[in-house]
Amino acid sequence: MSGRGRPGTDRLVAAAFALTVLGAVFFAAVYVLGNRTQLLGLALFLAFAGLAAGFAVWAGRLLPQGPYVEEREAMISPPEARRVFASELDRDQEPVVRAALPRRMLMLALGTLAVAFLFPIRSLLFSGPTPWRALGRTAWRDGVRIVDAEGRPLRPSDIARGGIVTVFPEGRVKDDHAMTVLVRVDPARLALPGGRGAWTVDGVVAYSKICTHAGCPVALYVQTAEQLVCPCHQSVFDVLKGAPPVAGPAARPLPQLPIGVDAEGMLVARGDFPAPVGPGYWRTT
Ligand code: FES
Repeated sequence: MSGRGRPGTDRLVAAAFALTVLGAVFFAAVYVLGNRTQLLGLALFLAFAGLAAGFAVWAGRLLPQGPYVEEREAMISPPEARRVFASELDRDQEPVVRAALPRRMLMLALGTLAVAFLFPIRSLLFSGPTPWRALGRTAWRDGVRIVDAEGRPLRPSDIARGGIVTVFPEGRVKDDHAMTVLVRVDPARLALPGGRGAWTVDGVVAYSKICTHAGCPVALYVQTAEQLVCPCHQSVFDVLKGAPPVAGPAARPLPQLPIGVDAEGMLVARGDFPAPVGPGYWRTT
């Protein structure tokens, strides 16, 4: 191999890494300006295609190709042979050391890619609610009125004894994540844990409607047993005791929503659910 390197090959490798730089800049620009998924995919394709092409050409044309044969007859080479070998080794290394342009372009390509990926990472960590925070909260807040599926505010007397009503936060009647059921029972029969008796109004108790097993709506109420039943896999929840599962595959209680009434006697939430709603991979209670 010549000691002067291969300028044509160097430039080819540098051009491939330059394509990576362009792809990374394109990715960052698309992400910041409009976040179009197809264009993001194209940008990543260009970036990694350039990286792959650069490495392939570098490995195929700039690195020593061999073959190399190890002499095994003499275990210790005479001094003169070692000197010749060392000088040969230095000479063969020379083109690699001289390939400064590809090395610089590789550093630039990797650095640009790293900077481009900071944009989505920043969005994930600092812009708006993160997925895990969003899943752990609902739209219920202290003072938010409780409305039915038509958006009508409710009074405790609107819930018949033994009745069940699906409700939502006011203004969020399409918000399935906050979907809740109101059940009215005899207040004297309630045996809620942890002082949660204050979370009810005249025997009206509120639970998340999302099953803690696999997320189906807990749509059935067995009035005689005062139990909520999920139709998907028949998990059964005891309404009187804070909705712990008493049968079926669910392992967690339905989270209970603290409720009260406002100055006009309308039902309102007194905060969010104390535990994440939905399937049982949330092990926080
Ligand atoms: S989703 Fe409710 S029991 Fe399976």
